[in-house]
Amino acid sequence: MAHQFINYRQAHAIASEWGTPVYVYDQKLLESLADEVLAFPNPFGYTPRYAMKACPTRAILQLFHNKGIHIDASSTWEIERALKAGYTPEMISLSAQELKADELKPWIESGVTINACSFAQLKMIVELGQKNHIGLRWNPGVGSGGTTKTNVGGPSSSFGIWNGYVDEIRAWVDANGVIVEKIHSHIGSGGEVEVWKQAAKLTLNIAESFPTATKVDLGGGFKVARNPDESYADLHDTGQTIHQALIEFKEKTGREIHLEIEPGTYLIANAGALLCSVNDVMDTGKDGYQFIKLDAGMNDILRPTLYGAQQPMHVLQENPPTNESDYVIVGHCCESGDLLSPAPGTNDELFTRRFPEVAIGDYLVIGGAGAYCSGMSAKNYNSFPEVAEVLIDPEGQPKLIRKRQTLDQIVQNELSLA
Ligand SMILES: Cc1ncc(COP(=O)(O)O)c(C=O)c1O
Repeated sequence: MAHQFINYRQAHAIASEWGTPVYVYDQKLLESLADEVLAFPNPFGYTPRYAMKACPTRAILQLFHNKGIHIDASSTWEIERALKAGYTPEMISLSAQELKADELKPWIESGVTINACSFAQLKMIVELGQKNHIGLRWNPGVGSGGTTKTNVGGPSSSFGIWNGYVDEIRAWVDANGVIVEKIHSHIGSGGEVEVWKQAAKLTLNIAESFPTATKVDLGGGFKVARNPDESYADLHDTGQTIHQALIEFKEKTGREIHLEIEPGTYLIANAGALLCSVNDVMDTGKDGYQFIKLDAGMNDILRPTLYGAQQPMHVLQENPPTNESDYVIVGHCCESGDLLSPAPGTNDELFTRRFPEVAIGDYLVIGGAGAYCSGMSAKNYNSFPEVAEVLIDPEGQPKLIRKRQTLDQIVQNELSLA
């Protein structure tokens, strides 16, 4: 379950210093999650990567860099961001939905591994002069994610080359003297463990058809439990299955495959929280609802609005009252879709959460908010600034890792009419 690493005293100290809303991350927890990922079983060598799209803030990238974790980037912009955080090109692997030749060109020779995610991308990479060290991202035919919006495998997904085209791609690769070094797949975020294992085996089947491939990257998608009714993927057990599959692969083909995985969610989801203040409490009469309005919203955290994500929430009060009440939690944006407590399985049906009676000024912590929250939002909607971020160090001391945006920064690229 999402780690409740902030108590009232810490929340109050952070809010007094930097205001709310503010993202808070727990360094100790991030480091222990990194250690778990580093311990993933592997028979013939292993490179873990952080899927930096989950949370690309510089201090977070540096923390994983210090642990020896490499990078999965999803755009050339992310490559540059990782370099600014201290990574070298050799530590970065790119799997992107969009590649533009002029933006890709500088990275081709740099040492960044580029995974072609479609036949057109493969041709572009080769036309830009790269024939060796080619990665191919495949759609292995199965997918799994918490929602259809995070499922990126199977016939309804545009991510990766369809597994039915192995023979055609192999023929093209051979005809053009291309050396495929890596076979890659990623089937979705936070999906089912059994489907993940199935996809891993299907990906290894594809690797059999590319005899030059020395590496297999099995993506991210390890499930975490944000809420009490959810369960964690057992990383060690999953790893054992892959370990065995790689040994069998060697017995069959004589090839020792270097393993890569690239978790985002697993490394950070439960080590981050959004600390908010209650800015209003109101109701719609005796047959209606009671609402908590936060000083944060979809401009800071989009997952509930986008996916109907069920984020854990708890209220922090200096002296919690004994009576409880049911509340719908909404954000501060002028949008009825800015609903932070949607009914499970929907993103627009109201649902209530039970808390000790809440008053304006109380703190509300949205947990499980490390991954795809700060980095993925309806940023600046209603001209709310991008919020500050704080890291609690292993001694329990919070330090600022990102400042709150100013109004000048929000409008800095706008030009006035002549
Ligand atoms: C190519 C790739 N790798 C890894 C990940 C990380 O997935 P997760 O956060 O579920 O671990 C993603 C997420 O979208 C991805 O697209």
